[in-house]
Amino acid sequence: MNKQFMSARGLTLAKTGGSAFGGKKIIIANWKMNLSIKRSLEFIKKITKSKNEVVIAAPFTFLCEMSRHLKKKKIKLAGQNVSQFGAGAYTGDISAKMLKEEGCSYCLVGHSERRIYFKETDKEINQKILQLLRYKIKPVLCLGENASQRAKKQTNKIIQKQLKAALKGVKNPQEIIIAYEPIWAISTFQKSKIKRSASLKDIKEAHLMIKKMLVSLCKNKARQIKILYGGTVNPQNSQEILNLKEVDGALVGGASLKISSLNAIIKST
Ligand code: PGA
Repeated sequence: MNKQFMSARGLTLAKTGGSAFGGKKIIIANWKMNLSIKRSLEFIKKITKSKNEVVIAAPFTFLCEMSRHLKKKKIKLAGQNVSQFGAGAYTGDISAKMLKEEGCSYCLVGHSERRIYFKETDKEINQKILQLLRYKIKPVLCLGENASQRAKKQTNKIIQKQLKAALKGVKNPQEIIIAYEPIWAISTFQKSKIKRSASLKDIKEAHLMIKKMLVSLCKNKARQIKILYGGTVNPQNSQEILNLKEVDGALVGGASLKISSLNAIIKST
């Protein structure tokens, strides 16, 4: 077992409250800056029925039209980002209130691409979470270490820092969903042609560690906090990942852009 996870040894899900989502998993398709409004509307028509909670994190400009078409389906909508500000002179930003008006029930926060390319800080991520909670939108807090931090055995420290900062001043942490997304496992950050997710062992250990941190930060509310895994989830590995009792669902990037692979993932559990 990786040394940085040694303290997770012996921590059972019974102690931490087990899976927060019962038998139902939450699967979030992160479309990033892909597709078109026309294709997105064709796409959602073909999403298969499932017992799982299916969420599409779509580009802002698709949300309005998509929400109209999703009313009858049980599929939920998510923003991919939100402003840390409530309203006012913030050119180019979209507020939590606006996301609510567009029908979003979830919103990604602190995705590694936002942290890396747009230099989002832990403080801003915390402000975004507080904005979303005001409007009863569930923040999906993305966190995880990069390859060099992992090599230096800093995973634990990095996640702890991200988690602590993100939860500052949050009174209802059970409204937040955590997405553990080790940056080295996200398909677009991998240089090799063959993309790999984290191993099942890595995922289990990291999720247990996060749950343990949540228990120390949020006490008994930690039980209800869902932890998703993201990073090269695809139809080949989704069943074994989603069947882990430590995993409450998946955040899927590349594989969510093809209807056949998204449907296979949704149906894999
Ligand atoms: P991936 O992306 O599934 O293509 O690795 C996941 C993400 O970036 O959220």
